Amino acid sequence: MYFRDLIKNRILITGTNGMLGQRVVDFYTHPGNLELLSISVEEKSVIDSVNYLQCDITDREKIKKAVYDFCPDFIVNTAAYTNVDKSETEREAAWKVNVKAVEYLAEAARAIDAHLIHISSDYIFDGNNGPYSENATPNPLGYYGRTKLASENALRISGCGYTILRTNVLYGTAPEGRPDFVKWVVKSLFDGNEIRIVTDQINNPTFIDDLVQAISKINEFNKTGIYNIGGREFLSRFDFTLKIADYFELDNTLIKPITTNELNQLARRPLKSGLITLKAETELGYKPHTIKEALAEMKRELVL
Ligand SMILES: NC(=O)c1ccc[n+]([C@@H]2O[C@H](COP(=O)([O-])OP(=O)(O)OC[C@H]3O[C@@H](n4cnc5c(N)ncnc54)[C@H](OP(=O)(O)O)[C@@H]3O)[C@@H](O)[C@H]2O)c1
Repeated sequence: MYFRDLIKNRILITGTNGMLGQRVVDFYTHPGNLELLSISVEEKSVIDSVNYLQCDITDREKIKKAVYDFCPDFIVNTAAYTNVDKSETEREAAWKVNVKAVEYLAEAARAIDAHLIHISSDYIFDGNNGPYSENATPNPLGYYGRTKLASENALRISGCGYTILRTNVLYGTAPEGRPDFVKWVVKSLFDGNEIRIVTDQINNPTFIDDLVQAISKINEFNKTGIYNIGGREFLSRFDFTLKIADYFELDNTLIKPITTNELNQLARRPLKSGLITLKAETELGYKPHTIKEALAEMKRELVL
């Protein structure tokens, strides 16, 4: 029996139709261990047979009511405005979801003494001298990063019990919604399509199930503060893509190197980034998969 099976508590998860949210719900849909309320903005849940509420978390009154009615011990906020380039032009929308909604969640959490677990990003850093520890100085390059940093600051002054998990380049199997990076690479190469991948963005990609593991540890040990959650290996996106091609035995000559500058995206990206996970390993017993182990797990579930 896992320790989590002994805990009887109530967990409210936001963004449950998203990539991470689906996996968090999947993990906690364990018989008997807790009561769960999943929330996302769409009319229907993509996961069957869960206690689901359609709620836009930027609606202050609605989200407060949802929190007060359900009265969770823990809130896991996986909802976010995650389109990095669109955040440059849709600033108000990005700010509403990534900052204002976090303030509303924190306000409600504080009122009922719930613990808020929030997900942040390495995009709060400029990528000049990564990888970063938890106490490195943020300096976001783009608007998305600014909203994520502002969400952290909102929690700091909120007065609620909170944990911030900073992560980078999530990959893993979520049955519904947009494909993750691995699925996109595998499908593109499988279909014989050439892909252009940056050689100058370095970080430690995070297997989603490792982030779920970290969330469950925070829940078990009731830890507050900031934790970096990333993968075991630091490498360029290009080298990550080669590893994926090798593992799935696909044609790696279709992978063409390109620089971030040449891609000419709207938002600037941190280049030398990544997150040092020593604190999580020491304090939470966090043990991330290697990329090879993670790809092996994904292979079992991947449907193209
Ligand atoms: N993916 C990465 O590589 C990465 C890296 C670092 C940090 N993170 C952070 O990790 C967290 C999870 O990311 P993810 O990749 O799982 O994101 P995702 O797949 O985009 O999921 C976010 C979910 O939140 C929902 N949502 C958006 N606005 C909402 C609102 N107003 N009310 C309720 N739900 C709303 C989205 O619905 P719609 O799709 O309909 O908008 C989506 O289902 C986010 O905080 C993100 O910033 C992600």
